Amino acid sequence: QRHLISAADLTRDDAVQILDTAEEMARVADRPIKKLPTLRGRTVVNLFFEDSTRTRISFEAAEKRLSADVINFSAKGSSVSKGESLKDTAQTLEAMGVDAVVIRHGASGAPYRLANSGWIDAAVINAGDGTHQHPTQALLDAFTMRRRLVGRDAGIGQDLAGKRITIVGDVLHSRVARSNVDLLHTLGAEVTLVAPPTLVPVGVETWPCEVSYDLDSALSKTDAVMMLRVQRERMNAAFFPTEREYSRRYGLDGERMARMPEHAIVMHPGPMVRGMEITAEVADSERCTAIEQVANGVSIRMAVLYLLLGGNEPAVTPTRTEEK
Ligand code: CP
Repeated sequence: QRHLISAADLTRDDAVQILDTAEEMARVADRPIKKLPTLRGRTVVNLFFEDSTRTRISFEAAEKRLSADVINFSAKGSSVSKGESLKDTAQTLEAMGVDAVVIRHGASGAPYRLANSGWIDAAVINAGDGTHQHPTQALLDAFTMRRRLVGRDAGIGQDLAGKRITIVGDVLHSRVARSNVDLLHTLGAEVTLVAPPTLVPVGVETWPCEVSYDLDSALSKTDAVMMLRVQRERMNAAFFPTEREYSRRYGLDGERMARMPEHAIVMHPGPMVRGMEITAEVADSERCTAIEQVANGVSIRMAVLYLLLGGNEPAVTPTRTEEK
């Protein structure tokens, strides 16, 4: 594939190849020098029209670890405020010699448009578009689940067949939930969504997952629970759920977590709103993988960039110690 726009575009073999390549990339992070020459001479632009902490910094770290030249573009402070279109912005950047564009945009479908309009020749990677997709988030989540629930070495070549995953919260506005449902289904997992009725998307019955309104019953048989932030910035203020009522019914606190199976993990894509969907006790517990997910994101993004731009170069050259 030339682009990564949606988790739904990945076959099981594509996804497992990315997860396996990310395991190779993670080995680089364990070395004293965390850099590979793979993308030397290639230029990647990070085109962010929406705020981001994890995704933007993680892509930049991944690009630099692969020795790419990196250009960071933020819509704030750019000529977008003067009315410049996505097409003109993208063509302006490509004129400076760009091989790949990592794009985050508030409009669902913007990365697809960029990849399929013929405006630019560069590879396009979706870093989150509106309420639509966030494929590298789903991949790093799957990577974290495979490591924790199958094993780092045992997981190589494996998918998540039979694993039970519960996704809780504001599914309506969540590109993370959509991407995860698509990818987890492709990888053989069984997904249950738990959300207040007002935050369940229309048409969810066509998604490859179950929907439940009973969090405690779903948690009692889950292997991983993924808590979602309530995205107030995408809601009319009249529809804000009250914090107390929301956290009572859909939040994860220590008491609820204690009723989960012992091996089950707690995930969060970040940013977390402590006290709303997750208590500080749970966020800071050993069962919560939020920080591990961030670290894994760098390996996943290195793998995606390598597979889209790296050609036939070996992903990771073994060090002398590893060869022995
Ligand atoms: N998970 C995630 O996409 O976080 P950021 O919005 O900080 O990039």
